[in-house]
Amino acid sequence: MIDISAVRADTPGTAFVAHFNNAGASLMPRPVLDKVTGYLEEETRLGGYETAAKHDDDLEAVYGSLARLVGASRSEIALADSATRAWDLAFTAMRFSEGDRILTTTSEYASNVIAFLQVAERTGAVVEVVPDRSTGEIDVDTLDAMIDERVRLIAINHMPTNSGLVNPAADVGRVANVHGVPYLLDACQSVGQMPIDVGEIGCDLLSATSRKFLRGPRGAGFLYVSERMVDRLDPMVLDLHGARWEAPDRYEMRSDARRFELWERSPALVLGLGRAANYAMDIGLEAIWERVLDLGEMLRRGLSDVAGVTVRDIGSVQGAIVTFTVDDHEAEMAKVALFERAINVSVTTPYSARFDMEARNLPNLVRASVHYFNTEDEIDRLVAAVAAL
Ligand SMILES: Cc1ncc(COP(=O)(O)O)c(C=O)c1O
Repeated sequence: MIDISAVRADTPGTAFVAHFNNAGASLMPRPVLDKVTGYLEEETRLGGYETAAKHDDDLEAVYGSLARLVGASRSEIALADSATRAWDLAFTAMRFSEGDRILTTTSEYASNVIAFLQVAERTGAVVEVVPDRSTGEIDVDTLDAMIDERVRLIAINHMPTNSGLVNPAADVGRVANVHGVPYLLDACQSVGQMPIDVGEIGCDLLSATSRKFLRGPRGAGFLYVSERMVDRLDPMVLDLHGARWEAPDRYEMRSDARRFELWERSPALVLGLGRAANYAMDIGLEAIWERVLDLGEMLRRGLSDVAGVTVRDIGSVQGAIVTFTVDDHEAEMAKVALFERAINVSVTTPYSARFDMEARNLPNLVRASVHYFNTEDEIDRLVAAVAAL
């Protein structure tokens, strides 16, 4: 059981706002904030490089924390400045040629699809969308049947940006592994929300962000690169951190995931991300997931009872992201009206998940994403405020 009063006391933002934009950026807890600001203050006193040297062990420990969070080893973690950057580091390190097939899912995030389309344009590779089951998740049997020797990559999201859907990531992993196809999982919305184990999932690559369900600072993220995959990947950009200039005409890449990193980074944000990972693990990812499932269901139930409101989530398991429309209220107007009542939600448009939103003929959606520190009272307030629109 999570001590809700304690986690709220640790979260300064809860005194000001009912925050249901955790899928956008959550509220940082005090220990994360202190870690970031404390480090920045130290930099002003000691100097940037000197502070980094002093905290070398702490910075190194962040890899261990992130590895533990996803069930990896620390040599399989690369730090990045966002989930998209992490995902792109992996994707752009793969080589595609004419006729190569990339398989993805209907709810794939826009930035990933834009990268697919760019590579398709440049190389003649083709992007194919695997159909869903009637409940909304990727249909794993169809995925299996679609695979042939031209499939070079399976890249899907664990949870999309625009619904509570949870894709069966481990079932996809089993299919990918049977066929020996590289598997890239966008876990941007799932890390911090539910337990993640890359071994169980069977993915080769996984990308995640700091600011969402992990509750870390903005401007940070990370990539998991499995040991078995790292040597097959040639990073698009290398510097003197990812590789060593061994002779005038020769360089050697690092053998671990850090070949994907650049030398310069924000140590304050890295430490904040590590602190956020530890904070989540101290609470317990199982307990977080259980509470998120409960609160998500409570919110969906409350909203469904409001005349004129339609909940738009799909999936046989539904997590923290709750999406809905309100008759005669454009989503952006609803968001602004709720903000004026100190309730934060966001808006999802077809520009962020076009395959899915077009297929379901959806307009812009209001997205209310719960986290474990939200209360039942806050949910009642949100439902009442939506009813009063
Ligand atoms: C499913 C999904 N993938 C990737 C991203 C991109 O994350 P970031 O903004 O950290 O790059 C998002 C952001 O909302 C997302 O919802």
